[in-house]
Amino acid sequence: MRQDEFLIGLGNDDPGVRRSADADFVSFWDGEARKLHWFEGWGKTLEWDPPFARWFVGGKINASYNALDVHQGRRASKPAILWEGEDGSSRVLTYRDMWRGVQGLASALSSLGLRRGDRATIYLPMIPELPMAMLACARIGVTHAVVFSGFSAQSLRDRIADSGSGVVITADGGHRRGSVVGLKGVVDEAVRGLDSVGSVVVLERDGIGVPSWGPRDRPWGELVAGDAGPCPAAPLDSAHPLYILYTSGTTGRPKGVLHGTGGYLTHVNSTFRWAFDIRDSDVYFCTADIGWVTGHSYVAYAPLLCGATQVMYEGAPDFPDASRMWGIIQKYGVTIFYTTPTALRMSMRSGDGIPRSFDLSTLRLLGTVGEPINPEVWRWYHGVVGGGRCPVVDTWWQTETGGMLISPLPGIETVALKPGSGTRPIPGLDVAVVDESGEEVGPGIRGHLVVRNPWPGMLLGLWGDDEKYREAYWSRYEGCYYPGDYAMRDRDGYFWLLGRADDVLKVAGHRIGTAELESSIVSHGDVAESAVCGVPDDVRGEAIVAFVVLREGARGDRDSLREGIAGAVRGGVGPIAVPKRIHFVPALPKTRSGKIMRRLLKAMAEGGRIGDTSTLEDGAAVDQVRSALGGERGQVGRGVGGECRSRGVLYD
Ligand code: WTA
Repeated sequence: MRQDEFLIGLGNDDPGVRRSADADFVSFWDGEARKLHWFEGWGKTLEWDPPFARWFVGGKINASYNALDVHQGRRASKPAILWEGEDGSSRVLTYRDMWRGVQGLASALSSLGLRRGDRATIYLPMIPELPMAMLACARIGVTHAVVFSGFSAQSLRDRIADSGSGVVITADGGHRRGSVVGLKGVVDEAVRGLDSVGSVVVLERDGIGVPSWGPRDRPWGELVAGDAGPCPAAPLDSAHPLYILYTSGTTGRPKGVLHGTGGYLTHVNSTFRWAFDIRDSDVYFCTADIGWVTGHSYVAYAPLLCGATQVMYEGAPDFPDASRMWGIIQKYGVTIFYTTPTALRMSMRSGDGIPRSFDLSTLRLLGTVGEPINPEVWRWYHGVVGGGRCPVVDTWWQTETGGMLISPLPGIETVALKPGSGTRPIPGLDVAVVDESGEEVGPGIRGHLVVRNPWPGMLLGLWGDDEKYREAYWSRYEGCYYPGDYAMRDRDGYFWLLGRADDVLKVAGHRIGTAELESSIVSHGDVAESAVCGVPDDVRGEAIVAFVVLREGARGDRDSLREGIAGAVRGGVGPIAVPKRIHFVPALPKTRSGKIMRRLLKAMAEGGRIGDTSTLEDGAAVDQVRSALGGERGQVGRGVGGECRSRGVLYD
């Protein structure tokens, strides 16, 4: 490839940014933080007590003030959200509308007894009231815990209980694939017997309806109806916890990733401007659901901090057909589009003709996130969607990092893109690729990615579990943050992100924990034991394969057992975690210490070589699994996955 084949520059290079960040990253971030509104300045820029970082110590700030109040001058009547419903209906909410809505709800939440430091769980579909609810919490210092509205009652219940939320904010339902998805019933089931929940705020949408009203339920409309007057934004400590977002690990329960306010806002504000070069005239569209971190950082927070206009879409990206995204871009004149490799692979499959039949000429910048992007998909995105004229920013980051850490940054510098590489770390970040012993590896060699200094979007810790925080991220390599990703650095110093080094599953860019999934499978009465792993999938990046050991005397034929297990997963985690293949095996291969050898199962599921089995306790289990796989070949691609796909569930 010619080095300059994808040279991107927008004419606003600012070499000073990298220079000052390289010279002193702490004072560099000090300068970036000053781009936000602070009620009071800070004394110390960074307090680094590894592994705990506190940024802008002593500073007072409010996320909702920075997202809304600061725009009430010249941007008051500028659209903040151009909302598109799945059925083509639309709503426009200006910065003034958002500001008023947020104050009304913030007053209502206060009247329900929520106070600074309390937690509220939000379980809403992709409607403007979702960011409104987050900002209402932030306004009064309540820490929000948004739960993806595709998660089941059980997952929701676990998260409400773990966060100790006193209030749950939900709606009667949402729209997905032409049908109504009821949410209120799910919440009823989730909060049953949970005395810590004092109130459930329920938004009623046209034509959906609430199945029943209980004593704790409060209609959103009534709560905000009285004119409570303005609700000023509370000046909060910079490290005040803005939100908890549960994400999957490989063991135990989901981890409550805790983000603060001042550092987090500084990080998302600056990275959004650098990566997307956002201007007042832009129409930005990110397809991520706010239930995941991309939607937190780059739908709910960063675009509003920057006073941008954004499109928000409720519905499936391929409903009613593969043209949906392109139709939205054409309808709203989208200029910046941020999506996932999975969405692009789905579109690519349907052929170039579909995007080419839309007017996509307004696009000027494209982004991807969530999983490695295959170079051919990158080229298709760049050529067919972007007409060869738009930079593609491949942004690498995680729930824990708060915002982008490795990405091209056309807003501040010209860079030669390489399809499939996130290029270089953001200014001020010290990133390396190391081997098992922590030695930095040379160019072209795969190793583990590590970050060697703190950054402002870094998680404060894990909710209620400092020990787990240390162990999960800081114990593997002394003094380094360990994200759990494989990476390679090439001769030009570019980083290539090569997927997870642990058992975390990445299905359609969504992070799914093995432990949570396995425990939902085992909750099925006929299952004795289970192990899941991911195998490569052409469209969704990874597909889930489950190995299941049945109990003695399990009843029913294999297909009905598979359907039952799929149902248990739908109820336990949610439809996104339903395995594509379920294999029944007599035993799981384990090490002598009793650990399931997932690497081995994964190799067998992929049909690859098995490698070293010297630690294996029972070699016979491998043969049994292998013969079970052989005997079940006919199931592959049909089974449960096939059925779910026809219902569209797998694409949710
Ligand atoms: C993966 C999503 C390659 C990675 C923002 C990471 C990526 C995990 C990229 C975090 C990318 C994210 N290229 N891999 N551009 N972006 N990942 O917490 O494995 O849902 O560790 O955050 O997604 O997933 P999470």
